[in-house]
This record gives sequence, structure tokens and C-alpha cells, in this order.
Amino acid sequence: MLKDDNRKVMLDKFMKEHNYEESSLLEILHKAQDIYGFLGKNIFTYVANALQLPPSHVVGVATFYSFFKLKAPGEHVVTGCLGTACYVKAVDDIMTAIEQDFDVKRGGSTADSKLSLFITRCIGACAMAPNIIVDDEVIGKATKEIVLERVRLALEGGHRS
Ligand code: FES
Repeated sequence: MLKDDNRKVMLDKFMKEHNYEESSLLEILHKAQDIYGFLGKNIFTYVANALQLPPSHVVGVATFYSFFKLKAPGEHVVTGCLGTACYVKAVDDIMTAIEQDFDVKRGGSTADSKLSLFITRCIGACAMAPNIIVDDEVIGKATKEIVLERVRLALEGGHRS
């Protein structure tokens, strides 16, 4: 199940604009990846339900195309918004701090698979820039200190809720 947040609102709006048509599946998956940074099981299920398609079909289409990021995310997922509003508010500095502190690269996971780091291009919350999402919690007006602490707590806390 996708969390009820701005990202889901954006995806819903996009699917509605495309009349939930199967012929728009590729565009919808592109949009979902833009919004969430990667495509995971819950996104496939959600899109499949909305378009009334078997989830296996949606997964099959996504795995066929190399431009989709299907890498199994780590136990915890951090996504930084690198859209314009967040970028000018120095989100890149926070991303770099995460990379350095946790030894992880954008688009990848830590060696122990506990943390994955992704990017998105706008989650529709520009007024709260810079935005970083830690395990589905959108942190607006994020600072390096707040985000690093939140990621540390997530890693110490174990599994994602
Ligand atoms: S650019 Fe980050 S929320 Fe819009």
C-alpha cells in the first residue's frame, strides 16, 4: 500500500489524466519513478490495481526496459528531491552528507543493504523545500542535522514500519 502523501496525490493525478489506460502504462511507470525515485513492489501493485491489470504484467513491462530502476531497495530508503526548488535550497549538500556518513551512493545501497539512496525530481511540496523522504516520512525544510539524525535512528531502529 502506498502511503497517503503528496507523492501519491501526484501519481493519482497523472493516472487520472491518462484515464487509467493500459496504453499509458509506460508513461505512468516513468512518472512513478520520477516521483518515488525507484519502482518497488508496492508501486507496482498500486499501479496494477488502478489500471486493472495483473501485477505480473506491470512488473514484466518494467523489467523489460532498462531505464527503470528496479534495484531492490535496502531495508531503509532515503529519497532526496533534486527538483529546482529543493536544489536551490541546497538539498545537494544534504545528499552529499548522507553519502559520506553512510557510505552510500545515489541510486545505490550500502554494502549491508540496510540503506538505499534515491533521487526524485519534485514531489509537489516545493514550498517546504528542501525535501528529503526517509522511509515514507517526508521531511520538509530539511537540514543536514535533522536528516542525518533521522537516518541514524531508522538504521538503529531496525525494520521499516
Ligand atoms: S522541487 Fe522538491 S518538492 Fe518540488
